[in-house]
Amino acid sequence: MQLFLDTTDTAVLKDLAATGLVDGVTTNPTLIAKSGRPMAEVIAEICGLVEGPVSAEVAAMDVEGMLAEGRKLAAIATNVVVKVPLTRNGLIATSEFAVEGIQTNVTLCFSASQALLAAKAGASYISPFIGRLDDHGAVGMDLIGEIRAIYDNYGFDTEILAASIRTPAHVTAAALAGADCATIPPATFEALFKHPLTDKGLEQFMADWAKTGQSIL
Ligand code: E4P
Repeated sequence: MQLFLDTTDTAVLKDLAATGLVDGVTTNPTLIAKSGRPMAEVIAEICGLVEGPVSAEVAAMDVEGMLAEGRKLAAIATNVVVKVPLTRNGLIATSEFAVEGIQTNVTLCFSASQALLAAKAGASYISPFIGRLDDHGAVGMDLIGEIRAIYDNYGFDTEILAASIRTPAHVTAAALAGADCATIPPATFEALFKHPLTDKGLEQFMADWAKTGQSIL
C-alpha cells in the first residue's frame, strides 16, 4: 500500500520523507491557501522533495478551464498528477487528460457509482473521502470495499486512494479493504509509528539493559 502525505507544509514533508515511507503527496485548494504561498511554487518544491505522485488540483469548473489549468500544472514536473473534482465536467476533462497522457486524481468521491464513472473516464486515481462520509453519518470505509469489488469485477486499473483519513484505524481499515493508497495528514502519519505498549516495552528493555552495564559497540 502506498502512503501519501496530505500537506503543503514542506518542512513537515521533508521531515517525514526522510523516513523513506512517504510515497507521494496530495494537496487541495484548502491546503494551498493554508500554505500562504503561490501554488506553482509550492507544487514545484514538493515535486522536488518526493519522487512519487504529487496531486495538484484545478480550480476551474468548466472543461476548457480544467484542461488549461491541468496542462499548466502537469508542466511543473513529471510527477504532477492533476486533481479534478468528480463532476460531469471533471470527468470529461479526465477523459481528455487520459488521451494526452496526463495522470489524474479524481477527487471528492462519495459513492461507488461516482467511482465507476471515474474509472470509465480513465482516472489514474480515485479519491473516496472517508472521514467526510463518517461526518455525514455514513460508514465511509464501506465505500472502499465497494469500489474495490467493482474495479476488480471489471479489471479497472484506476488506483483507489483513500482520502479524508483522520486516524491510524482509518489507515488500517483502508488497507484491509484493499485501497491501493491512502493520503494521510501529517499528525495522523506520525501517529502511525506509535503504540503505548511500544513505549512501555522499550522503557522496560532500556532499564533492564542499563542494569547489565554492557555496551554493544
Ligand atoms: C485528499 O486528497 C484530500 O484533499 C484530503 O484527504 C481531504 O481531507 P479532509 O476531509 O480531512 O479535508
